[in-house]
Amino acid sequence: MLNKKIEDICNRQIEREGYSSNLYLAMASWAETSGYGGIAGWLYAQAEEERVHMLKFFRYLNERGGKAIMPALKKPASDYKSVEQVFEEVLKHEQFITGSINEIVALALQEKDYNTHNFLQWFVTEQDEEEASVRNIIDKLRLVGKNNMYIFDRDIESLRKKGTADQSAT
Ligand code: FEO
Repeated sequence: MLNKKIEDICNRQIEREGYSSNLYLAMASWAETSGYGGIAGWLYAQAEEERVHMLKFFRYLNERGGKAIMPALKKPASDYKSVEQVFEEVLKHEQFITGSINEIVALALQEKDYNTHNFLQWFVTEQDEEEASVRNIIDKLRLVGKNNMYIFDRDIESLRKKGTADQSAT
């Protein structure tokens, strides 16, 4: 049986992963309607991944005798100034999520909940990968001028992770 503190903090993470999914969907819509089909594809795929992260917490809580709660999610911004702003915000958000995962890891250790600690290791690795992938995109972005944005957009399309269930988004 899960302890209440762990259940509550995992439910907090459900809200944060759900918001991440909606945030990337909102960004995808901005990108798609601004002519950046490749970037939109990357963001749609990210949105799907975040939903999967949320579901992992859902299933974990319920399997361990807790209860996953689907919260109301706040509305993300629907307009962005530039592609640069979008990716800077993605990085900032992922850093926030990494901090959030680390807080759960710390609590799991404090509460001697080694099952939850074990469950979280996948997320620790995933956050490393996600931050590295967004930093890579921001580095590329700094190398392209406005005139090369079309090529950049195609390039990002090819960066999408393989096997992501984003067929509905393309
Ligand atoms: Fe699920 Fe990108 O944090």
